[in-house]
Parts: sequence; structure tokens; C-alpha cells
Amino acid sequence: MRIEELDTPAAIVDLDVMENNIQSIADYCRQHSLKLRPHTKTHKIPEIAKLQVKAGSCGITVAKVGEAEVMAAAGLKDILVAYPVLGEAKTTRLAQLARECKITVSLDSLEVAEGLSVAAHKAGSQIDILLEFDTGMRRCGVETPASLVALGHAVAKLPNLHLAGVLFYPGHVWVRPEEQGPDLERLSERIESMKQAMRANGLDCQTVSGGSTPTAYNSHRIRGVTEIRPGNFVYNDRNELGLHVCGVDQCALRILTTVVSCSVSRRAVIDAGSKTFAADRWLSGEGKGFGLIVEHPDVYFELMSEEHGHLDLSGSSYTARVGDRLTMIPNHACVCVNLHERIFFHRKGVVEATWAVAGRGKLQ
Ligand SMILES: Cc1ncc(COP(=O)(O)O)c(C=O)c1O
Repeated sequence: MRIEELDTPAAIVDLDVMENNIQSIADYCRQHSLKLRPHTKTHKIPEIAKLQVKAGSCGITVAKVGEAEVMAAAGLKDILVAYPVLGEAKTTRLAQLARECKITVSLDSLEVAEGLSVAAHKAGSQIDILLEFDTGMRRCGVETPASLVALGHAVAKLPNLHLAGVLFYPGHVWVRPEEQGPDLERLSERIESMKQAMRANGLDCQTVSGGSTPTAYNSHRIRGVTEIRPGNFVYNDRNELGLHVCGVDQCALRILTTVVSCSVSRRAVIDAGSKTFAADRWLSGEGKGFGLIVEHPDVYFELMSEEHGHLDLSGSSYTARVGDRLTMIPNHACVCVNLHERIFFHRKGVVEATWAVAGRGKLQ
């Protein structure tokens, strides 16, 4: 079957582009002796996680226990849950999983560590811990070397946990790669002071896990990092395009849509709205629009209802007709694929595989 024959809306991925994205970052990491642990939140598909491991990743990253369960069931053996896993319902499941595969969790509080320790003790398993510190995003992570050391000492005493190192997420670095110099220097200094405090206090800091897609190919300039966790690079999206992290030809994920109405002058409606794309804004652009229309980049994807995508044609020479098919690059790939049951993988337009997004909707 060719992609032109697929019913719409449909999420499609160009296998050549995706494989190239996977290989490029793996080669880069090999060249710079960095471990690669891609965040699988972007695809949520075990088949792709396995391709990433085959290309050289040391393991994978997830955000949810449910995602870890899906990946482990498919045979993935080394999983980092880069999220503070809290509450007995979740810790029990994760500690159980840690009997079958290597599980690491990032956290920034003793409450989370204690819960994991109790659960791992009950299950007779071990969970590795990375202490999260904030580098400027102001989301999760302790803020001072002293609080990192205090947490480290407390975690080191807890049964069935192993303190493996530290973790940060540089999601606040949101400029073009060539403009990241000052941010990379600030990150390096911050990491060095955290590492030094850990070591000076006799705490193990073997792993320093960082990385995002915008900073991915600059990771060798962040001193002290041992492993990176970019996720988005596997597909890329309009946010990465806006940051000049990739070009249109490196955006593997597209949404096929059909024009279903053109009755209002200089407007058109496609058969895909927020139920297909999710409502994330274009964070790296001027905040406007919900996707790039590959065939007509000058058409403004202005609004979304649940099932309607509202296109403003006033700035374009495009004369839409009912039945036209349009290909979109979504603003944010990760939230978009979470809405799709399956994705069609094609090579030069010929569908080669249909994979379920097995990790979608795993809220817990
Ligand atoms: C903790 C953590 N690590 C890694 C990533 C992957 O970063 P990116 O989406 O820039 O690839 C994310 C993304 O949200 C994250 O939250």
C-alpha cells in the first residue's frame, strides 16, 4: 500500500529519515564517548526503542511506570524512569519490574527515595537512583550542592537502592545550537560544582545524565556529562525546526490530512484538529499556528476545534479544493503521537510496517 491510499487523518513516519536520525546521534555519541539513553516519550513504540538499542544506545528513558512496563514486556532490559515515582501503587509495580530488568529512577526528594526503597525491599529487587539537580529550567531538581549532598547521604543509607549518580534536564536551553555557547558554559560550571560536592563528600557520581534534542549535538561541550537522553530527534517536529536543530527533510513524522470544507472565503478546513495534533503551541516560533503544511508553508494553520483544523489561506496563493490531501509537521511530536493508536512506517511512500503506539496513554 502507498501512503496516498491511507485514510486520513493518519500519522506516517519516513523510515529512511527516522533511521538516519537514530544512526546520526548514535555515531555522534560514539565519537565523543558519551552513552546514549534516548527518551522514548517521543515515539512510545518498543520496535523503535529496539532499533535505538541496536544502533548503540546503552538503554532507554521513559517518564511513566506504565511506559516502563510496555518497554520491559517487549524485551528492553535497561530502563531509566526520568521522573519522581511516588505512591505505593506505582512503586510496587516498578519494584516488581526491577526483578526482571535494570531500573533506574531520578528523584529530588527523600519522600520518593523512601517509597522506592520500601517497595524494592518488599519485592527483593534493587533500584538505581540518580539525584536530579536543577540547571535553570526550574521544574524538578535540587538547587544547591549542599542539598544534593544531603539527599545523597540519605539515599545511600536506604536499603535496596543504589546511588548511581546525578541527572539534569537542560530543557530551558531553547536557542539555536550555534547560539548555545553561554548556556553550555553555565551548564558545565553547574555540573562541575555538583560533581565536586558529591565526590568531596564520598558520594558516587559515576553517571551524569543530561541531554535534550536542542543541545544533543553540543553535548561534548558540556563538561562532565557521561550520558545523554534526547528524545525528540527520532522524529523531530516544528519546534525543532524553529530552533534550526533540523531541516524539514529530517522531520520523519508527518500527519496526513484531507481538506473537507472550503465554503468560507479564503479559509479551508482539514479533517484533523486537537484530537489529532494536541494543542501545543509553536514554542520556538512566534507562538502561532499548529503545524507546518509541507505543500504550502505559507498557509497559516490558525485554529483547532476537536475535529476541525482551521486554515487561513489569505497569505497564500493556494486555492484549496475539497478532497485535497495536505501533509503536516506537528508542533510537538511527542504529544501528537500519544493521540494515535498506530503509525504507518513507509519507505519512499510504500508502507512497510504498521506499529502500535503501545506506550500511549500510560498516565500512571
Ligand atoms: C527528563 C527529560 N529527559 C529528556 C527529555 C528529552 O528531551 P527532548 O524532548 O528535547 O528530546 C525530556 C523531554 O521532555 C525530559 O523531560
